Amino acid sequence: MEGSHVKQARRSMLALDDDARISIINDDIWIDCPQTTMVERIVRNMLTTKGRVQAPCLLVCGAGGTGKTSLVNKIKSATDEWANNIAFTRLSENADGLRFCDQIMLALGVPPTLGKAVKTHLGLVKYLELTGKIAVVIDEFHDGLLANRQEQRKNLSLLKDLSGAPYHLSIIGFGIESALNALQQDRQLERRFEVIQLHPWTETEEFRQFLASMEENLPLRNPSELYEKKIVKFLLAKTDGSMDAVIKAIRFSAIQAIICGEERVTLEMLEKGLSIRWAY
Ligand SMILES: Nc1ncnc2c1ncn2[C@@H]1O[C@H](COP(=O)(O)OP(=O)(O)OP(=O)(O)O)[C@@H](O)[C@H]1O
Ligand SMILES: [Mg+2]
Repeated sequence: MEGSHVKQARRSMLALDDDARISIINDDIWIDCPQTTMVERIVRNMLTTKGRVQAPCLLVCGAGGTGKTSLVNKIKSATDEWANNIAFTRLSENADGLRFCDQIMLALGVPPTLGKAVKTHLGLVKYLELTGKIAVVIDEFHDGLLANRQEQRKNLSLLKDLSGAPYHLSIIGFGIESALNALQQDRQLERRFEVIQLHPWTETEEFRQFLASMEENLPLRNPSELYEKKIVKFLLAKTDGSMDAVIKAIRFSAIQAIICGEERVTLEMLEKGLSIRWAY
């Protein structure tokens, strides 16, 4: 069938003009892959476990561009009941110079003044009961832990307090490797954290599946067969398996494929895309 390489829901896009299709290619899309599905499952299981004395915590580690923020957004967009009980914050967005503690309180909807007395203040417990928040997801987690030694100790101690009685908040951090090193400064806290590493792509069936899903979403009129060995090898050689770099390489080449009229991603389009990049 004409256009059967594109998934049904997006097939009508094939009739759009070049500019409209280029704009679609530049939109972020989400593709499930085994490691992201596993993280989502862990978060769900942690948050639906009842009667926790110490809240289970999770640290998702990955190099820059491995898809951490995208995964946070995916969790944010979940409509399940457990997902409504999560507060979200991103530490590098701290333009106001808020302290670590204040930022977490702000995410929980707690006035910073109350947060200051977190260790003794039962008001926070009431707040959490009222809002139903049982977890806080922190993107750029390392930012809060790479402070000077004294700040770091204070921040780790806050996390320990929040994840223990009487608050029982699950801390779910997303950050680069150094977040783990910082966490390891406090053995007791480290024990509460499950650590998951997001790995770069390698030549696996999962990667081929991912590429096949990418292709189903691209509004190109001819099939590219992105999962073919030569394309897989090219992508891995040029990107070291970085999610961000793989997505960019495919985007730039798909745009070239439209401009040149080739209408499919080939090695030639990939080379061209990576050399012209945004200057199409
Ligand atoms: N599962 C996915 N499906 C499709 N695209 C994805 C997926 N995960 C990440 N991406 C894309 O990869 C790029 C990098 O992702 P993201 O910004 O989430 O990485 P990051 O780990 O947060 O990077 P940084 O460490 O720089 O903050 C983005 O363009 C994003 O849209
Ligand atoms: Mg990010």
